[in-house]
Amino acid sequence: MLDGKRILLIIGGGVAAYKSLDLARRLMERGASVRGVLTPGGQQFITPLSVASLTGDECYTDLFSLKDEAEMGHIRLSREADLVLIAPATADLMAKMANGLANDLASTILLATDKQVMVAPAMNAEMWAHKATQRNLETLKRDGVLMVGPGAGMLACGEVGPGRLAEVPDMVAAVEDFFAGGARPLSGKKIIVTAGPTHEPIDPVRYIANRSSGKQGFALAGALADLGADVTLVAGPVSQDTPIGVNRVDVQTALEMDAAVTTALPVDVAVCVAAVADWRMQAGTMGEKLKKSKDGIPALDLCENPDILKGLSSMSEGRPGLVVGFAAETEKVIEYARAKRERKGCDIIIANDVSDASGVMGGADNQVHVITGDGVDSWPTMSKQDVAVRLAQTIAGALDK
Ligand code: CTP
Repeated sequence: MLDGKRILLIIGGGVAAYKSLDLARRLMERGASVRGVLTPGGQQFITPLSVASLTGDECYTDLFSLKDEAEMGHIRLSREADLVLIAPATADLMAKMANGLANDLASTILLATDKQVMVAPAMNAEMWAHKATQRNLETLKRDGVLMVGPGAGMLACGEVGPGRLAEVPDMVAAVEDFFAGGARPLSGKKIIVTAGPTHEPIDPVRYIANRSSGKQGFALAGALADLGADVTLVAGPVSQDTPIGVNRVDVQTALEMDAAVTTALPVDVAVCVAAVADWRMQAGTMGEKLKKSKDGIPALDLCENPDILKGLSSMSEGRPGLVVGFAAETEKVIEYARAKRERKGCDIIIANDVSDASGVMGGADNQVHVITGDGVDSWPTMSKQDVAVRLAQTIAGALDK
């Protein structure tokens, strides 16, 4: 999302300065290059060495440094960026900006820059509410400065109220929105995706599993995050890398998956891609390893797992605005999937053929039919990644209606 973008990160003096290190890392993970400027106040909380080590670039601190000026003057610093981001921005820094003061490196850069500036304020609640700060805020907004946060909650000083530095994912999302040319289609939407198989223990060493790789669900979670969604991916046991920008919760069993989904509620959209095991062992039957005995083959005492998709679809209060299911079928794909959509009560069902001949389970490609109340849209065979991107757009479109 941020490939090749250059971000000048000005870190002001505040307890939240340590979060700017994580912010730099998350921005770089998405392809941006980050150059750090640390104010004297910022240096009371974190060091130039930690900023430089993380960003892989010099960390600039002094306006009148012979060394810095010879290598990179403040004018060049302010121009060689696509975005100037201040996090945390103190009341002092905001006041300087609003009044055009330029008496240190950060404020001089801010006066000299011809690039978009984005401010993430962090301060005590009374300082934030003060007329002077609010006046400065209005001035900055009028000047075209973008704002992210502050959030409300427990502040470092022990008081409660507005003034918390925006959360790192929210700052990253604001930067991504800026480079995307405005709010992305799923900005501000919370989405749960379930993915992968579940493992149901039979005894301490054996379990019931299935061949789901988690590939399609993981790709979809990433594609939804790329469109700006705040995605929680509840993943069964798989060996997939977590897509960038996605919050991952790992689970083993269907019961754990169900509980993790419930914890993540409320959401705007739920997408159940997981191949949840239909059955688990009865409670109390899994304590000791099953032994071979002369009495013959042991019968597994199974009971039914909760149907997560059905549960979400039938919530009487706080149902997600859009519930999407998958139907893995080996025959009569569309007919069975249509019936499954009715039975489970979801809005959209994505049907695919998982027979051995299709190679979908564990494979790289997929061919899906998107079934809604309006009819069936059959997509050609494409990579699971391409299915994910198109599906994310379909979900954004459905929310727009
Ligand atoms: N699903 C779920 N919880 C379950 C079982 C299934 O959330 N306990 C969801 C899957 O994530 C998928 C959809 O339900 O979105 C359909 O799953 P599938 O395994 O195809 O359907 P089943 O309910 O198992 O139906 P059947 O065995 O009749 O095919």
